[in-house]
Amino acid sequence: MAENLTQSYPDNGTLKQSALPIIDQFGRSFTYVRIALNEQCNLRCIYCMPEEGIDFRTEDKLLTTEEICRFIKIISKMGVSKIRFTGGEPLLRKDLPKLIQFAKGTPGLESVHLTTNGLLLSKQIQELERAGLSGINISLDTLDYEKFKKITRRDGLDLVLDGLEKAMQSTIKSIKLNVVAMRDFNNDEIMDFVALTKDNDITVRFIELMPFDSHQIWKTGKFYGADHIVSDLEKQLGELKNVAGSPTEHHVFKIDDYKGKVAVIPAYSRSLCGECSRVRITADGKLLNCLYSQSETNLRGMIRSGASDEEIQDKIRKVMWNKLKDGWEAQHYGKEHRESMTQIGG
Ligand code: GTP
Ligand code: 5AD
Ligand code: SF4
Repeated sequence: MAENLTQSYPDNGTLKQSALPIIDQFGRSFTYVRIALNEQCNLRCIYCMPEEGIDFRTEDKLLTTEEICRFIKIISKMGVSKIRFTGGEPLLRKDLPKLIQFAKGTPGLESVHLTTNGLLLSKQIQELERAGLSGINISLDTLDYEKFKKITRRDGLDLVLDGLEKAMQSTIKSIKLNVVAMRDFNNDEIMDFVALTKDNDITVRFIELMPFDSHQIWKTGKFYGADHIVSDLEKQLGELKNVAGSPTEHHVFKIDDYKGKVAVIPAYSRSLCGECSRVRITADGKLLNCLYSQSETNLRGMIRSGASDEEIQDKIRKVMWNKLKDGWEAQHYGKEHRESMTQIGG
């Protein structure tokens, strides 16, 4: 397959092999890399992990600061312009500011983002700002204290709201809220979340529940599809005027005179795969070419056994070239389900 890939470049003769971008057989190009920094988390969201008995990877299996920096340097030479650090909970990782700073200073990388549950945000916001972070996506599924405890199995809504407030006051440009929509749990809060976009320049995103937890709570009737979310929004707001959003965001709109935006992410129905631009690396250094793929490529092994930058780049191109058409096909080729979203990094 790697041979096919290089043959498909008409100007291969003039381009250095290391400078070739990452593309696939379906014409997609990959410019956005999601790096999971850990599997640990200070919450226990019911759709993500069980309360107890989680088999987290041991420290020695996680990529070190130096290994992540090397990976960032390598992929920055392959046309990647955007990095997102995820987890687990990335704010639990002490080297996060250093990693952000390194990524921000790497030629070719235009923006560096973070997806966090927000619990530790207010404590760390200044350091993140100083490190040059471009954007923060905060996961928050409810504005109700009791429901917050139910969904996360912990206290902490005040901390998250304080983190959100500080993030909005900071110089970090893009602030988004990720709300996993669940039937009979928070679908009655949709308009409360929309209201947050009135005075705040943030994007509130409603996300479809996905089947990535060991208890498979998504089979318990909680799934609330993008079509339902959009029709709820239309019922309340009338016709929605679409505006531009990021590639995961569909049905992006803005209410007249509101500062922020609202979007829906069809994470389960997967109408977003045609525009997929994402490469994923798990906390233990495995490359994934799709969120729904069960097939992992061990880059950590390659890094630790002395592979050259070119060998690693060649492997990344090969794995991405072989990406299947969409998340449905990827799921079809795998085991039934994952144990936790933290094994993927979101
Ligand atoms: P932006 O760069 O701000 O658009 O963020 P993002 O949506 O790429 O990242 P984030 O970590 O905030 O993820 C939001 C939700 O979208 C999570 O539930 C992710 O699992 C889901 N998501 C992100 N990328 C993909 C993808 O490639 N496929 C699917 N199906 N869902 C995705
Ligand atoms: N379904 C949908 N979204 C999920 N997330 C975590 N687990 C799931 C799931 N099973 C979301 C988090 C976070 C993002 C990284 O992924 O809420 O915003
Ligand atoms: Fe932690 Fe995020 Fe999973 Fe919730 S969804 S348990 S915040 S990693």
